[in-house]
Amino acid sequence: MIDLRSDTVTKPTPAMRQAMANAEVGDDVYAEDPTVNALERRVTEILGKEAAVFMPTGTMTNQVAIRTHTEPGDEIILDAGTHSYFFESGGPAALSGVMCRCIPTPRGIFCAADVKALLRPRNEHFPHTKLVCVENTHNLGGGSVWPLDAIREVTEAAREAGLKAHLDGARLWNASAATGIPEREYASHFDSVSVCFSKGLGAPVGSALAGTKEFIARARRFRKMFGGGMRQAGIIAAGALYALDNHRSRLKEDHENARLLAQGLTEMPGIEVDLRHIETNIVKFRVTGMAAQKLCDEARARGVLALARNDTVRAVTHLDVGTADILKAVEVYRMTLARNK
Ligand SMILES: Cc1ncc(COP(=O)(O)O)c(C=O)c1O
Repeated sequence: MIDLRSDTVTKPTPAMRQAMANAEVGDDVYAEDPTVNALERRVTEILGKEAAVFMPTGTMTNQVAIRTHTEPGDEIILDAGTHSYFFESGGPAALSGVMCRCIPTPRGIFCAADVKALLRPRNEHFPHTKLVCVENTHNLGGGSVWPLDAIREVTEAAREAGLKAHLDGARLWNASAATGIPEREYASHFDSVSVCFSKGLGAPVGSALAGTKEFIARARRFRKMFGGGMRQAGIIAAGALYALDNHRSRLKEDHENARLLAQGLTEMPGIEVDLRHIETNIVKFRVTGMAAQKLCDEARARGVLALARNDTVRAVTHLDVGTADILKAVEVYRMTLARNK
C-alpha cells in the first residue's frame, strides 16, 4: 500500500527504534527523565524560547496552550479551518471554557485587519479576547505556508490589542524547509509555539509546547490536569530526538514528491490542481471526472490510499513514500479515471 492519507502514518525506522530502545529514562513527572529533558532543551534551542514541555500529542499541546493563555469565559480568535478549532473535538469549549471567534479563510491565512475587525471594546457585555492562533503550515489549507510579513502584522496587531499569540507549528519544520526561514524566526513572533514530532519528522509519538519559563510552568500544571504527565517518557522522547537529528533535513524530498504528484495530476482530465498551491508536503486536488470518494475507493483497491472530502482529495507525502511510489500513484489515478470515463 502507498499510504498518502497523512504524514502521521509513518512507522519508526530500525535506527529510530534502536535509539528508543537504548534511551536513558526516569520519572518525567519529577523532571527526572534525562532524555525528555534533553528533548525539551533541544526544542528551546531550535525555537529560541526559554522553556519547553513534552506531551503525547499536538492536540494536547494546542489545548494546553489555549488553557494556559485564558480563563473560562474568555474569547480566542482563529481561522475557521484551524486544527485546534476544527479537528480537536471541541477542546477549546470543553477544556478551557472559551468562545472561539473564527475568521473564514480560503487557505488558513488571515491578516491584521481580520483580527482588528473582531476586537471588542472593554465593556461588561463582552468576553475578554485573549489570544490569536495561527497554524503554519496549515493542514486544511493544503500545507500552505504563512508569509513572514503576514505573521509579523497579525502578531503585532494582537500585541497592540493586549492579546497573546499562539503558533500551531505541527508542521513548522515543513515551513522552514520550504522557505529557508529558520523555525526560531517564525517562533520569535509568538508567545507560545507547539511543534509535533509525529508528522513529517516520522517519530511515532510526541509534541512539545514552548514559551517563557513562567508560561511553561503554568502549562505543566494543565498538562498534568489533562492527563498528560507521563513517566518514563524518554522511550518516546528518544524517537523525537532521533527524528530531529536525522529527518528534519530530508523534508525537502517530501516537498519535491508532492510537486511530482501534483504535476502528474495536472495532466489528467477530470482533475483540477493548482500547482501554485503545492507549497509543502500536502496535495489537495478537485475531482471533476467522477466522485472523489469513488476515486479513492478504487485507487485503494489498486494500492493507493488518500482521503476524500466532498469533491476534493488530500494526499500527503512523507518519509515512507519514495519517488517510485509517487510515480505509481500517478499511474493508479490515471488508470482509475480512464476506467470511469
Ligand atoms: C496542524 C495540526 N495541529 C495539530 C495536530 C494534532 O496532532 P495530534 O494528532 O498529535 O494530536 C495535527 C494533526 O494532524 C495537525 O495537522
